[in-house]
Amino acid sequence: MPEARLKVSEVVTSRISPELFGSFVEHMGRCVYGGIFAPGDPMADENGFRTDVIELTKEMGVTAVRYPGGNFVSGYRWEDGVGPKDQRPRRLDLAWRSIETNQFGLNEFMSWIERVGAKPVMAVNLGTRGLEDAARLVEYTNTDFGTELSELRKKHGRNETYDIRFWCLGNEMDGPWQVGHKTAEDYGKLAAETAKAIRLVDPNVELVACGSSFEEMPTFGEWETTVLEHTFDNVDLISMHAYYEKFDDDSLSFLAASARMDRFIKGVIERADRVAEAKGSDKKINISFDEWNVWYQKRFEGVENLEFVEAPKLIEDEYTVEDAVVVGGLLMALVKNADRVKVACQAQLVNIIAPIRTEPGVPAWRQTIFYPFALTAAVAGHELLELELSTAKRDSALFKDLPMTDAVVARDPETAELRIFLLNRELAESTTMHLDLEGFGDYQLVEALYLGGDDLALTNNQQNPEQVVPQTLGAVEVKAGGLTATLPAASWTVIRLAQVG
Ligand code: AHR
Repeated sequence: MPEARLKVSEVVTSRISPELFGSFVEHMGRCVYGGIFAPGDPMADENGFRTDVIELTKEMGVTAVRYPGGNFVSGYRWEDGVGPKDQRPRRLDLAWRSIETNQFGLNEFMSWIERVGAKPVMAVNLGTRGLEDAARLVEYTNTDFGTELSELRKKHGRNETYDIRFWCLGNEMDGPWQVGHKTAEDYGKLAAETAKAIRLVDPNVELVACGSSFEEMPTFGEWETTVLEHTFDNVDLISMHAYYEKFDDDSLSFLAASARMDRFIKGVIERADRVAEAKGSDKKINISFDEWNVWYQKRFEGVENLEFVEAPKLIEDEYTVEDAVVVGGLLMALVKNADRVKVACQAQLVNIIAPIRTEPGVPAWRQTIFYPFALTAAVAGHELLELELSTAKRDSALFKDLPMTDAVVARDPETAELRIFLLNRELAESTTMHLDLEGFGDYQLVEALYLGGDDLALTNNQQNPEQVVPQTLGAVEVKAGGLTATLPAASWTVIRLAQVG
């Protein structure tokens, strides 16, 4: 049986930002309409909000939600979604070739997110619109100086300001598919000026410039450098997006997704720090990884083939146990980089490539990928500990020298509880992990749960909503100064240890 060794040190490398456990609600398919908002459904309250979805979102530990897109935002007029519902226009959404009824908009989203208890990460349209509309939106949400827009908000039923802190300056502006796609030069100038105007409206915001849509974009690297050369003084974060899927039945390359994500993050940090150095600044531009997940894009036939209808069923991937193991690994990659990744949003929350699924009239259910998210989101605000991992390496088609195990350890600063996340990429064998906790004092096992092992193809669905749940890992032996755990083949594990005495 393969073995790996992990030495945990008491050195805290960073605090894990609470906003690392964000999600994403886009006006796309059935994420909003039929997902979080389904007036008349037996699961919906008087606002039309599905209460089962609200409960599951809370159970997942979602701390932030990006809205309203995505590609959708690049053609969106926020004014269409506020005010009396019977006066809101029906419009063509060009991003997803759908019909947008505008029955759900900014104020509905804000009252929904307040029910969930998460923070908004709002995106502005820099595709078909620009500085003025973005600044007017921030004036509507965040100010109270008796101007037309703050009074309009009050007329729409909201007296207090929303004080929205995180703002994304457009979406995937490097992508030729984006409505209003731009060169790095053009986008950089527009984003810098928009950021300047937004800060003049409200200096207490944190602004995200668009980075690359994925690592394999031909412009990756150059895009980040040019955009940050323009926006460096005006933004706080740069965005990253990445979706992973399994190709050619190659599970090892699929399990390498988290190593690829880690490499991508380091590549963006390197570019951002080079721009800082060239400017003679010690400012750190942080990362907003505001779209990430497993998404089987090969199953999506493309926007051109879609009919203009309301809330079509789009990309409602049914996730397997193997997908959940990969998602667990991706969460580990984000947490590992918590010194620079300050915001992250799994895309998306409901129905669209989502941990939560709904159908009319029946309770919502948890997909397999719900569990690693919920079990990891518990470390929001905790300390990330420094580790030394010694593990075998192998080549996969998509990643050379791939470590066969991976590890992340977080400590609750209040209770000293440890959460240990372990990934075993060995496909056919268990791995014995020896964990050295020398100097940590006495700990006892609270629980050890895993996903993976035997039946990687199992899913949860409407007929079998609880077929997959995390399993108890019996093979954990806690002893003085450490523990030994036998990690099943192709698995993701979380071990919780409580301090004794
Ligand atoms: O999450 C689905 C889509 O993926 C988003 O709209 C877009 O930003 C990305 O390409």
